[in-house]
Amino acid sequence: VTVRVGVIGTGVMGADHVRTLVSSVARAQLVAVCDADGDRARVVAANAPGCRVETDPEGLIGAPDVDAVLVASPDDSHAGFVVLCLQHGKPVLCEKPLAITSDECLRIIEAEASGARRLIQLGFMRRYDPGYLAIKDELLAGAIGLPLMLHCVHRNAHSTAGYTDDMILTNSTVHEIDITRWLLSEEIASVSVHSPRPSSLVPPGFADPQFTLLRSQSGVLAGIETFVNASYGYDIRCEVVAERGTVSLRPTEAVSIRSDRRDAVSVPSDWRVRFAEAYRLELQDWVDGAAADAARGPSAWDGYAASVVAEAGLASRDSRQEVQVALADRPGIYGPVAN
Ligand SMILES: NC(=O)c1ccc[n+]([C@@H]2O[C@H](COP(=O)([O-])OP(=O)(O)OC[C@H]3O[C@@H](n4cnc5c(N)ncnc54)[C@H](O)[C@@H]3O)[C@@H](O)[C@H]2O)c1
Repeated sequence: VTVRVGVIGTGVMGADHVRTLVSSVARAQLVAVCDADGDRARVVAANAPGCRVETDPEGLIGAPDVDAVLVASPDDSHAGFVVLCLQHGKPVLCEKPLAITSDECLRIIEAEASGARRLIQLGFMRRYDPGYLAIKDELLAGAIGLPLMLHCVHRNAHSTAGYTDDMILTNSTVHEIDITRWLLSEEIASVSVHSPRPSSLVPPGFADPQFTLLRSQSGVLAGIETFVNASYGYDIRCEVVAERGTVSLRPTEAVSIRSDRRDAVSVPSDWRVRFAEAYRLELQDWVDGAAADAARGPSAWDGYAASVVAEAGLASRDSRQEVQVALADRPGIYGPVAN
């Protein structure tokens, strides 16, 4: 079965997904792209044989030859497009976050859960990264005992145009929230957010870097540093401290370079380099799920749960208090909590 894909949003992430879909994903055929900036869509379509430009996202979602939709437009546009996909009964891969507010996320999971099957996969691609998968396997194997603490680091070289202070939590830390939930196979119970003195290199008004402390329902602590203007590159770290040992991501570079009395490995410039394999595996799983009429991978529930924690983080940042996380009941369509 070939899955005919339409992509909404052909900016940095959308264009990268298109490259991966066209070059490296089996059983996928890119048939349409759409972007508020028509020139961007035309450039992307010109490099993908058989792909046309749709001027209107709703037209793309409703097009009879589009079997499945990838949403890679800005965060505040996701909810509307995802609801349209549900109304048309089309599988959708939605970039994170699912929506800006937890209320919008809740409306989406209620809409999806009123149907017979999942249609939404969330773009939490780290769950496909071989390093994070190996950490999860090690924890499930149990040889190092129960996890007690996580140390997570999320650094970008520079925040991009349009990036706001709130997005440190809702757009960036949200990845760490999801990976913590997934590695621990449980929900987050409370969150507190802390900031050091301001850096002279960070735009005024940005609480960057930021330290988020999550406490899981069973009492595991996760300390997350998010620093979106770290200057030197894209750097993602994770170490899980368990009763009898630790398990950590290693730097992914295959070689180190010795020169000028230094021994160095390079640091990726951004997420497209660091998580290229994860994006490929994510897209392949999505296409395979669409072909089998059964969405898999990170769900709308995962998008909801992560956004609830991020929103509680905003409240903690502003109140300087630890904030409890309150989740709705998990609809049966999303299966058991431990995933
Ligand atoms: N999973 C990841 O690791 C990851 C990494 C980066 C970005 N993202 C997510 O991908 C999404 C896009 O991010 P980006 O960095 O590519 O941003 P971007 O600004 O480079 O691209 C967004 C594109 O969407 C277009 N657009 C804006 N409004 C639109 C609308 N209503 N309909 C159609 N197109 C519209 C813009 O013209 C632009 O080309 C964001 O939600 C972001 O959170 C995810």
